[in-house]
Amino acid sequence: MTDSHSTSPSLENLLHETRAFPPSPEFAAQANAQPSMYDEAAADRVEFWARQARELVSWKTPFTQTLDWSGAPVAKWFADGTLNAAYNAVDRHVEAGLGDRVAIHFEGEPGDTRTVTYADLQREVSRAANALATLGVESGDRVVIYLPMLVESVVAMLACARLGAAHSVVFGGFSADALRSRIADAGAKLVITADGGYRRGAPSALKPAVDAALAAKEGEPATTVEHVLVVRRTEQDVEWTQGRDVWWHEAVEAADTFHEPAWVDAEHPLFILYTSGTTGKPKGILHTTGGYLTQTAFTHKNVFDLQAESDVYWCTADIGWVTGHSYIVYGPLLNGATQVIYEGTPDTPHRGRWWEIVQKYGVSIFYTAPTAIRACMKWGEEIPAEFDLSSLRVLGSVGEPINPEAWMWYRRVIGSDRTPIVDTWWQTETGAIMISPLPGVTATKPGSAQVPLPGIAATVVDDEANPVPDGGGGYLVLSEPWPSMLRGIWGDLQRFKDTYWSRFPGIYFAGDGAKKDEDGDIWLLGRVDDVMNVSGHRLSTTEIESALVSNELVAEAAVVGAADDVSGQAVVAFVILRGEHADEAGTDEGSARIEKTLRDHVAQEIGPIAKPKRILVVAELPKTRSGKIMRRLLRDVAENREVGDATTLADSSVMNLIQAGLAKPAED
Ligand code: PRX
Repeated sequence: MTDSHSTSPSLENLLHETRAFPPSPEFAAQANAQPSMYDEAAADRVEFWARQARELVSWKTPFTQTLDWSGAPVAKWFADGTLNAAYNAVDRHVEAGLGDRVAIHFEGEPGDTRTVTYADLQREVSRAANALATLGVESGDRVVIYLPMLVESVVAMLACARLGAAHSVVFGGFSADALRSRIADAGAKLVITADGGYRRGAPSALKPAVDAALAAKEGEPATTVEHVLVVRRTEQDVEWTQGRDVWWHEAVEAADTFHEPAWVDAEHPLFILYTSGTTGKPKGILHTTGGYLTQTAFTHKNVFDLQAESDVYWCTADIGWVTGHSYIVYGPLLNGATQVIYEGTPDTPHRGRWWEIVQKYGVSIFYTAPTAIRACMKWGEEIPAEFDLSSLRVLGSVGEPINPEAWMWYRRVIGSDRTPIVDTWWQTETGAIMISPLPGVTATKPGSAQVPLPGIAATVVDDEANPVPDGGGGYLVLSEPWPSMLRGIWGDLQRFKDTYWSRFPGIYFAGDGAKKDEDGDIWLLGRVDDVMNVSGHRLSTTEIESALVSNELVAEAAVVGAADDVSGQAVVAFVILRGEHADEAGTDEGSARIEKTLRDHVAQEIGPIAKPKRILVVAELPKTRSGKIMRRLLRDVAENREVGDATTLADSSVMNLIQAGLAKPAED
């Protein structure tokens, strides 16, 4: 970093200058990432990716074409190559003599453990693939996976990939209704679930949600599901549908340990993952095989500086999110990593559980979300101080902007003031990391994701799609195709084009605001659309509003994401009650009852993660003359700020009314 281009650097710039952490010479000398990667990619971006694809992925039939962008915005990468994702993640390591290497150190929340080598994984995945095939799963089918964090979750995903069936993992925190709509949209043939899992010191159930999701519903067609495969984890009693339900352990244990992988085209679907958009209906983001594997392997190796022979890697995400797909399952396993998988919460049975796990397994690379870091900050630094964290050498952050204070705390308290921190920006849609420092190369800067990776064209543009100069702000866009980019929204090509490619024709609109500092480093500023980011989870304001108005109490609802110290944003709902219920809200007891009913209703419609933190009963909502709700003003109210410019309101007295009549917050 240098300010030689400027004789009077801004105060902001100076601040960054003093707070940048250059890599140590020792780290730089042994790092996977090298500065020359940027030059190489700049010289020929497409060839750069072809080289990564040849080096990091094993092909049954080598590809001869790299990028075909003639069908834009649907890209084809490595299209004439064939391969198998599970073979790449597992078998080839065993064939290379690494069968005894630990792939997974599993730690259950109650303290039970399991060690799985690559050879074990090969046997398990092959058996599971055979079991799935016996249940009728074929290449091209879809399988919904609704599981806690277990070894079986990884095995289930890889078994699908081995058969060429696309998996669609649904996070266990989603409700039966949310699960049902995803099963229906994907047209899934099989659901893989568990009796339950351990969470916060107690078994919690999962199978009942699957039963409810698959139950006949008046006016709706029956689902396409033929079988439900059930992992036994907690020994809870489960309802059993004869002929449909099958125990995982019975089916898998009975299956053969040899399975020939299905060799698929590079563009064969690998998975569909549903994520929230700006409308009420979640989008099924489609990823294919060759490009996705190339970029997840490349980024996992270089952004985390994985040294597969010696590192112990741990990503705390759930496999229900894209981070779990790319940086628990595919990236690490493709690179032959040894990793920790933990079932439970960070504070069970005590608030040092994560650090105890780091100490126990000698974790050296740790990847988590800012919301978790902020929670740990709140709990106090004396807790991590009780554990030996000296094995850590790279720390990662993902999911939301990390504030510089949390970044500094992470580095100082968890990283002993020594480890590089990689703040990684990416999305379900991008499939893999796009913007991040490279450890050993980049001088890291607290709070900034900094630079597009080699081979990635990310920039910040203004309203007219002109790149902003250093020091300017605007929208984050991706101007060139990348290997792990989404190939569409399942069953809705038009929505894919409208959502990502119409705001700025021909370039990908990420939906995030961003600025460039005086060094040209990128700072992410949060979503610019109706998507919220709560604890790193993506939620749609419209989806929660639809859930609220589907309750008989509610006439109208508006939802905003309000700034929150720990979760980044919190869901705050403003509701107008139907006439006959409006009076009830007048008493403390009545309003508490209404809030509880509505929060439970949202949990049932979408899942507990979408529950509003506060529900404010109001008589009116602020609307423009054309009837559009002015969420900006509601956000001011929710964040206890003076209300901004309200001159475009149809009725300017509404904001006074809202502020005067606010109900009390309902805390969890
Ligand atoms: O707003 C950005 C935020 O998370 C969104 C993507 O969410 P999702 O698809 O659920 O994937 C999350 C895990 C990759 C983005 O549009 N986001 C993600 N990483 C960062 C971030 N915001 C700021 N900094 C990040 N490092």
